[in-house]
Amino acid sequence: MDVLLQIPEIRTPRLLLRGWRPDDGAPFAAMNADPQVMEFMPAALSRQESDELIHRIQEHTRHFGFGLWALELVESAAFIGFAGLSRPSFDAPFTPCVEVGWRLATACWGKGYATEAAEAALDFGFNTVGLCELVSFTVPANLRSRRVMEKLGMQHDPADDFDHPKLPHGHALQRHVLYRIDRANWRRHEASRAVRPRQPA
Ligand SMILES: CC(C)(COP(=O)(O)OP(=O)(O)OC[C@H]1O[C@@H](n2cnc3c(N)ncnc32)[C@H](O)[C@@H]1OP(=O)(O)O)[C@@H](O)C(=O)NCCC(=O)NCCS
Repeated sequence: MDVLLQIPEIRTPRLLLRGWRPDDGAPFAAMNADPQVMEFMPAALSRQESDELIHRIQEHTRHFGFGLWALELVESAAFIGFAGLSRPSFDAPFTPCVEVGWRLATACWGKGYATEAAEAALDFGFNTVGLCELVSFTVPANLRSRRVMEKLGMQHDPADDFDHPKLPHGHALQRHVLYRIDRANWRRHEASRAVRPRQPA
């Protein structure tokens, strides 16, 4: 695995968003083999497929200058998953676009980590990369992920719902919901968060 990765590190109150390291391979593979984590993906991944995914993530970052960060808990330095930005590699009515995405180990669900990491990714996308809009998508049944999108201030218009072109016609996971946020709405969302009292960690 290549350790030379130029993605900038970002620190949030509880997380470090950083480049991928060789020792991420084993915990990432364990996550990608977990049926609960992969419930809304076409299939769980083998160790080799998981390593290939890290390679593709790194290639994406080299190519575009942004990508999916490895997530580490500040408190323990444990690897817990990924979050960040990626360019979907398929054609759809809303592409080309940049997607914000996330995948965490189940032991870390329900603590607000995905939202905390995604907020940093949105901030990076809008304020550093200079993007005008970000999207996110998932299957309708993935309520956890949809809730993260909603907490980020992303909006769902059913007119944007689509059949994922990489899945065969009739596949149970083919239908997807699309959420969007533009830079102006992100700034409004950030401003409203700044005046709202934060939940204790
Ligand atoms: C989606 C995922 C990243 C969420 O991570 P997380 O750190 O638990 O997310 P957060 O804690 O920031 O927010 C989760 C929200 O979903 C809510 N939630 C949890 N289970 C839920 C359910 N069954 N129905 C509705 N909402 C639910 C939580 O209550 C929380 O909202 P709240 O803060 O308003 O209470 C994580 O579940 C995951 O990795 N899933 C598998 C991979 C995946 O689906 N990735 C997305 C593919 S598009």
